[in-house]
Amino acid sequence: MGNYSAKLPSYKSLKGISERMLAEHLKLYNGYINKSNEIVDKLGSGTVDLSKSAATYSEFRALKLEQTFNGNGMYLHQYYFENLTEATSHIPDTVGAEITKNFGGFDKWKEEFVATGMAGRGWTVLGLNLEDGKLYNLLYDAHNIGGFVSLVPLLVLDVFEHAYFIDYGTNRKEYINAYLGLINWNVVEKRLEKAKKMHKVWTE
Ligand SMILES: [Fe+2]
Repeated sequence: MGNYSAKLPSYKSLKGISERMLAEHLKLYNGYINKSNEIVDKLGSGTVDLSKSAATYSEFRALKLEQTFNGNGMYLHQYYFENLTEATSHIPDTVGAEITKNFGGFDKWKEEFVATGMAGRGWTVLGLNLEDGKLYNLLYDAHNIGGFVSLVPLLVLDVFEHAYFIDYGTNRKEYINAYLGLINWNVVEKRLEKAKKMHKVWTE
């Protein structure tokens, strides 16, 4: 049985993210959780004919495709909401040093992160690649289209229109600028610490 559940943020709105926009966004997030549970239940029900599996069309293909669409839709939203805060957050030295090491400076990272946010159709993720231990800004055009499978997310930015249209209309850049002021760097730091340990184990 599917037992995914929502990890809801403690905030109801943020500076530059209205209560209404966040409430609508959380409805979508919950939708991905419900569908993920539904898909797990369906796959475990014994009613799907695996012998008819085909890449042109089959019920099993549809379920497998939507398992990753809804699953990543669920996890990426969870990480996105988790890495935002209403409190003032400063970049810890460890995170700043890692970003500088990988991108040549914080401003250079920010420039590329924002540009990735403008170039993508769904998500921008700053992550640590388990294979080489380096940081990358990667884009996703859909929940299940983009990224490296070996990327551990450190900082997630939602650039789907539902993430900003109610408050910003077509002005995605203004939304991204507001987002940059809402990042919970302590969350990023914890994820970075864990990702570095994972990289060590992965490449042993
Ligand atoms: Fe979203």
